[in-house]
Amino acid sequence: MSHTLKARYPSNIALVKYWGKYGNQLPCNPSLSMTLDKAYTQLQLTLSEKHNHQIEFEYYFEDKLNEKFGDRVLRYLQGQKEFSSLLEDYALRLESHNSFPHSAGIASSASAFSAISAVFLHATNPTLSQNDFNRQASHLARLGSGSACRSFYDSYVLWGHLEEIPESSNEYAVPLHEIHDNFRSMRDSILIIDEQPKLVSSSMGHRLMKNHPYAPARFRQGKEHSKKMIVTLKNGDFDAFISIIEREALTLHAMMMTSVDYYLLIKPGTVFMMEQIFQFRKETGLPICFTLDAGPNLHLLYPENIESEVQDFLEGYLQTHIKSIINDRIGLGGSVN
Ligand code: PMV
Repeated sequence: MSHTLKARYPSNIALVKYWGKYGNQLPCNPSLSMTLDKAYTQLQLTLSEKHNHQIEFEYYFEDKLNEKFGDRVLRYLQGQKEFSSLLEDYALRLESHNSFPHSAGIASSASAFSAISAVFLHATNPTLSQNDFNRQASHLARLGSGSACRSFYDSYVLWGHLEEIPESSNEYAVPLHEIHDNFRSMRDSILIIDEQPKLVSSSMGHRLMKNHPYAPARFRQGKEHSKKMIVTLKNGDFDAFISIIEREALTLHAMMMTSVDYYLLIKPGTVFMMEQIFQFRKETGLPICFTLDAGPNLHLLYPENIESEVQDFLEGYLQTHIKSIINDRIGLGGSVN
């Protein structure tokens, strides 16, 4: 006997960055993200009954057996006691597809681990209420990849404890409900500047924050920015929104450039486009800003009502400075069935 479950979960883009962790994947400062819509992982889990005690697990990515990521996922599953009976009683096959290309500056581990934890939690405990399910799945996803815990809710999501938000926690993410109309229909145009896989992983980046000379100041700043961003999302202040987001993006990369083993992920094309965006904003007064993940590709954030002006602006750089553009938007979260 076998049966299948399907999950579809989005990636998210951090507006306030998580960079540095302690203990079991706990964040050194709170982070705040926007859930994406078109960048998602589609996952199918097939469970086939078995009667031996050997683990039978396969992970297919884009229709090919992927042993490297499969090993990481299996280690993760073996680490969660909630999933031990599934591993014992069933042969498990995961088939994963991403709606976006690899190395595009979209956090694929966020959408992958949110989908994986959701599908396994649903397989072990299908009767949880939506609230309990999201909270437990967010907790489990965090243990696979920190940023994955923020992919369970729509719009804007906070991960990390803040006194001001009583339900907030370092263990799981919570949704933010008070959002001004200005920020409800945001666009995220991802400018692909470079498609090479990055040379330094995020895990290494987190590790380098351990004895980083600026770490204490950075963690304080991440906390202050999270608090300010929550207020900004309520009052609709675009200037504050832009200033926090760009400072966060540049600080993230400044941390990489100033760690003991320093490195650089941005490219000349990244800097060129950042300068064009500063100029465009100055000339037009339009509320547009950029953020960066741990890579060279820019995420341009702006409200839906200036979409045509932004697309005209970008058109001028396509092919010369930007390889391609993925047009995404604020999203609604994921589901499993
Ligand atoms: O979730 P991880 O361990 O891949 O780290 C993500 C780190 C950043 O994407 C750079 C920032 C963030 O908050 O998502």
